[in-house]
Amino acid sequence: MRKVTCQQPARLVVGSDAFMECVPYLEEAHARRVVVIAGSTTARLAAPLIDAARARGIDVTLWSEIAGEPTIDVFDRALAAARTVDADTIVGFGGGSALDAAKLVAGLFDDARPVRDVFGIGRVGRRRVRLVCVPTTAGTGSEVSPNAILLDDGARSKHAVISPFLVADAAFVDPVLARDLPPDVTATTGIDALTHCIEAFANRHAHPMVDEWALAGIRLIGANLVRAIRDGHDSEAREALALGSLYGGLCLGPVNTAAVHALAYPIGGMFGIGHGLSIALMLPHVLEFNVVADPSRYAIVAAALGVEPRRTAFETARAGVERCRALIQACGLPLGLASVNIPKTAIPQMVASALTVKRLLDNNPRSVTEADAAAVYEAAFDSDLTSLALESNLENKY
Ligand SMILES: [Fe+2]
Repeated sequence: MRKVTCQQPARLVVGSDAFMECVPYLEEAHARRVVVIAGSTTARLAAPLIDAARARGIDVTLWSEIAGEPTIDVFDRALAAARTVDADTIVGFGGGSALDAAKLVAGLFDDARPVRDVFGIGRVGRRRVRLVCVPTTAGTGSEVSPNAILLDDGARSKHAVISPFLVADAAFVDPVLARDLPPDVTATTGIDALTHCIEAFANRHAHPMVDEWALAGIRLIGANLVRAIRDGHDSEAREALALGSLYGGLCLGPVNTAAVHALAYPIGGMFGIGHGLSIALMLPHVLEFNVVADPSRYAIVAAALGVEPRRTAFETARAGVERCRALIQACGLPLGLASVNIPKTAIPQMVASALTVKRLLDNNPRSVTEADAAAVYEAAFDSDLTSLALESNLENKY
């Protein structure tokens, strides 16, 4: 068996009201000066945690200026805020944007280099401050992964920083925090989490241990995403999504994602479209391109999504792709790049940008050439038409 290394938080608390467990953890760890880096819309959810920590004599500073995916400028300001109070603990509280910013602040707290110098794999060399993650969405899995993504708005591109020093010391996964997420955020984050699982399972570096997390995540998200969108307070569905997202996050360190993510990055970087929606726009098209490379693997994905076996593995795999497309539609998300106002003339630049994400393309079960990437983007433009044709023969699943 191929070796795989998993680096995960030393403490992982999962369940209803788990986030308040953060307070005794901070006390136990002798945290004195805590900076909570939160999203502007989710900061209010952190109030009970902050009040309880302050009541125990812990100095807490709230920095809640994360609005949208973090840029280099936002990161620099968050880092400056944490240094001003000489923080010993950074708590990321929010969606993937807040968690990624918090992870980078902790990773670069004692490092004089600009963040651009650590773009890539293994360039963050150490971490002295404690790092805690509390996700409020069920999507990125950032709370358990060694990855953080930053938007370089000057260059209109996204960059990953990957390092074992970006793995949190503790993560508190609480499905209750996601209860009031708007349906569109539930949808986009859920599709992102589903994609982490699918891309880790159908991956050149797939591993039997990671496969179990990936399949569990696909089953949970496939069966519960639409439920949680229709009723955010459906606690069973929220719990399933929290677990599915966590499993997806656990897949990211040891195996990671592939071409869906590589081709989605330019959509976010060049046109400012959120990560989850970018992923949803590319998922069916990349799967369509990929299935031929490993039909039996994609047939297992299809079965985990509830597709009945067809005559051949290839047919089952293709039905799985249609199931993904139907799920994205049932989530109320658009299927075509034109529907988010991306001009078709941007394809060559998108292709050039996607091909630079070699670390993920190398994971993809099918090699992606320049012509392939262009063809997949073309298909993603044409899919408004495809989706109309599909509506008539969708299985009445969602
Ligand atoms: Fe993702």
